Amino acid sequence: MTHIHIGLIGTGGIAGAHCHAFKGVEDATISAVYDINQDAARSFRSQFDIPQVYQSVEDMLTDPGIDAVIIAVPNVFHAPLAIQALKAGKHVLLEKPMAMSVREAMEIAHTVADSGLTLMIAHQLRFHPVINRIRHQIQKGALGNIYHAKAGWVRRKGIPGYGGWFTQKKLAGGGPLIDLGVHMLDIGMDLMGQPRPVSVSGKVYGKLGSRGIGVGGYGGATHSGTYDVEDFATALIRFEDDRTLQLDVSWAAHILSDEEPYLELLGDLGGARFKGGNGTLLTELFDQPASVSLQVEDRDENERTAQSRHFISCIQTKKDPVSHVQTGIMNQAIIDAIYRSSESGQEETIELPILAPST
Ligand SMILES: NC(=O)c1ccc[n+]([C@@H]2O[C@H](COP(=O)([O-])OP(=O)(O)OC[C@H]3O[C@@H](n4cnc5c(N)ncnc54)[C@H](O)[C@@H]3O)[C@@H](O)[C@H]2O)c1
Repeated sequence: MTHIHIGLIGTGGIAGAHCHAFKGVEDATISAVYDINQDAARSFRSQFDIPQVYQSVEDMLTDPGIDAVIIAVPNVFHAPLAIQALKAGKHVLLEKPMAMSVREAMEIAHTVADSGLTLMIAHQLRFHPVINRIRHQIQKGALGNIYHAKAGWVRRKGIPGYGGWFTQKKLAGGGPLIDLGVHMLDIGMDLMGQPRPVSVSGKVYGKLGSRGIGVGGYGGATHSGTYDVEDFATALIRFEDDRTLQLDVSWAAHILSDEEPYLELLGDLGGARFKGGNGTLLTELFDQPASVSLQVEDRDENERTAQSRHFISCIQTKKDPVSHVQTGIMNQAIIDAIYRSSESGQEETIELPILAPST
């Protein structure tokens, strides 16, 4: 198989996780980095022993030795950089959220269609070994019809990068809904079999962050900086086949929380729960509740390595990645509708845009 050389754009908090993950993938190397902050790029390069640093993104994208890029920059730059990279002929592993709005997500999708290249959105939970075990049972029919999911990620004190790009609407597109909620919507709908969302009733609240309450450890904090996004969001999403998903996410809330992402699936034959990296399968046997625990095992591959391997394999085999533009658009459409519903105070319908065939 062709060896894939990758350029990493953005050398901040999540970039190191990509470097560790790709070390476990034989057919790929992170060969170069670029960051708008050149000092950060240089120190990252020596920390991870990366051959090259570029001084501009154009230098990276015009280098024929680079086959693919990872885009790990603030959300506002996802769409423009993804489009620029695709137009330059590079495959893209794009950090979540895909974009800041459906409109931007559609622009990316059209460029992917025109380019014929691979674009995958980084939703590593799809590759978690316990999620894989749950998915296997769903595929075997053990849960029956999954009619409802409860998904969430509730942090009591977990605002990332306070005062920086994470907490500014114009740079991030939103708060925990677009940051954490997108992961939980993605995995919830994946395990429900990608139902088509039709409407949403949601509400977002910004009660604590703007008062400096709930600042977390990730990404440092600039207390004098702007905080104009929500710190809690709740929503009920209805699907066309009469099923539902309940979402609750927060960065800051006066609530007891173990800070872990969770997903609960209610099926008519059985249920499943994923929390804190562990899982439980639930059913009834001999008129008694019966549960089976699922754990990560020694032989399991880390989800980020599995994600990286899948990206490379999709490039090599020209297959669609599991987390592709269509699922990204769907996630984005729901998030847009939750913000709309919060503003209007009403249930909002979701019109999924149709991808026009490429000319
Ligand atoms: N998949 C996950 O679980 C996960 C976890 C954390 C962050 N993320 C996502 O990764 C992305 C980056 O988050 P982070 O925590 O690494 O942020 P960060 O602020 O720590 O790092 C961002 C880096 O991008 C650089 N940068 C800013 N604008 C740039 C530009 N135009 N071109 C090149 N470099 C630029 C900054 O200098 C910084 O080094 C975000 O979209 C975030 O949502 C995903």
